[in-house]
Amino acid sequence: MRTLITNGTVLSSTGATPADVLVDGDTIAAVAAPGFFTSGTDQRPDEVFDAVFDATGKYVMPGGIDAHTHMEMPFGGTFSADTFETGTRAAAWGGTTTIIDFAVQPKGGSLLSTLDSWHEKADGDCAIDYGFHMIVSDVNDTTLKEMDSCVEAGVSSFKMFMAYPGVFYSTDGEILRAMDKAAEIGGTIAMHAENGIAIDQLVAKALADGKTEPHQHGLTRPPELEGEATSRAITLAGVTGAPLYIVHLSAAQALSAVAEARDTGQNVFAETCPQYLYLSIEDLAAPDFEGAKYVASPPLREKHHQPDLWRGLRTNDLSVVSTDHCPFCFKDQKELGRGDFTKIPNGMPGVEHRIDLLHQGVVAGEISLARWVEACATTPARMFGLYPRKGVIAPGADADIVIYDPAAHQTISAETHHMAVDYSAYEGMSLTGRCETVFSRGSVVVDRGTYLGSAGHGRFLARDLCQYLN
Ligand code: URP
Ligand code: ZN
Ligand code: ZN
Ligand code: ZN
Repeated sequence: MRTLITNGTVLSSTGATPADVLVDGDTIAAVAAPGFFTSGTDQRPDEVFDAVFDATGKYVMPGGIDAHTHMEMPFGGTFSADTFETGTRAAAWGGTTTIIDFAVQPKGGSLLSTLDSWHEKADGDCAIDYGFHMIVSDVNDTTLKEMDSCVEAGVSSFKMFMAYPGVFYSTDGEILRAMDKAAEIGGTIAMHAENGIAIDQLVAKALADGKTEPHQHGLTRPPELEGEATSRAITLAGVTGAPLYIVHLSAAQALSAVAEARDTGQNVFAETCPQYLYLSIEDLAAPDFEGAKYVASPPLREKHHQPDLWRGLRTNDLSVVSTDHCPFCFKDQKELGRGDFTKIPNGMPGVEHRIDLLHQGVVAGEISLARWVEACATTPARMFGLYPRKGVIAPGADADIVIYDPAAHQTISAETHHMAVDYSAYEGMSLTGRCETVFSRGSVVVDRGTYLGSAGHGRFLARDLCQYLN
């Protein structure tokens, strides 16, 4: 099967250039000057190729990589509402062709059996390619040994929590031990950096004062406690030499800590998420318990953090944008927390709209086209050992390609989105730009409003180590 994508503007992490792209089977065969593949023949392109896509006026960009999703994730007795099937389908609609999800080690469980059970959930169900990070919630001799086997199995990054005492939380000593191991084997530690011990005190005080509404979720997790935990994680990583990746960074205080560490040459990286760029703690204060829709950790911040985050994206102190897609329906799931905000399942849906939402940053002049592609595709590929198979339009790369119409208009709504969740955090937001055609390994998954993908097309990606280390 040979497919020609012609007359488009090919985007990369370094810029934009008019070019034609030839896809042969699963991979990109060649990228050449416009007209190159059709010159010197009297035949029409559709006689020469199996399929031809005219991308006049469109971007031709690498498929997005969402390095932070939670499909079917257990939380507080319930599960995030997207399965690997529905979640990867929604991702594809939004131009994301790879996800990296999190396998969650239960306390007392082994990493390898955890990995097996996440394969059971995902294998055969995904519409697009997928990999796993491993959440380490129980640091002990066995777990530490198993980290080697995880890396060998293509799971080269380990998430740990300074938040959620009693659930996923690790002490500084446990973190230090896991970081020591990560440094030895070249694995990356991905950190949820919030001071959970201090937060628990603020939460207990709020509840004792009868403050139970969703807004309290934000008020009891102040940005200073994300800044403190981020600094501490950086210190521990510095002591051990482990590469550190701060997940879902939301606060200016945390960004300053990351920037300072990067200035000294430490292997510290960070991602932010669209919700921190566009939504704020005011959304958590919505009446009638509607604020529960916006409960995620770290919480949405005051608006004044947002210009700092955009600046961080420009300066590469924030190098990746992921979604932390962790969808819980409002009905029956978020509602578990009526009368007690601590019972609201933490997380927000977003896997479908990351690329479109970040495109608004291009439209508004916050980031360049190249930076958009870099933060959504190229850097996550390099960060998590998938480059150059993913994250770039180049010969030999997987043909994960998005034809993007920058002039299209759409309005986000739960009525029309494809995620298995009964609300949208961005309901009514109008956007400029939309994915027109999405290819996963050469197969058309979405084309002009029609879904053509299939569960099971997506394959597990055994990942290499981080490709940015000093
Ligand atoms: O609230 C959130 N972010 N839920 C998902 C789990 C996590 O901490 O990333
Ligand atoms: Zn987290
Ligand atoms: Zn503030
Ligand atoms: Zn998460």
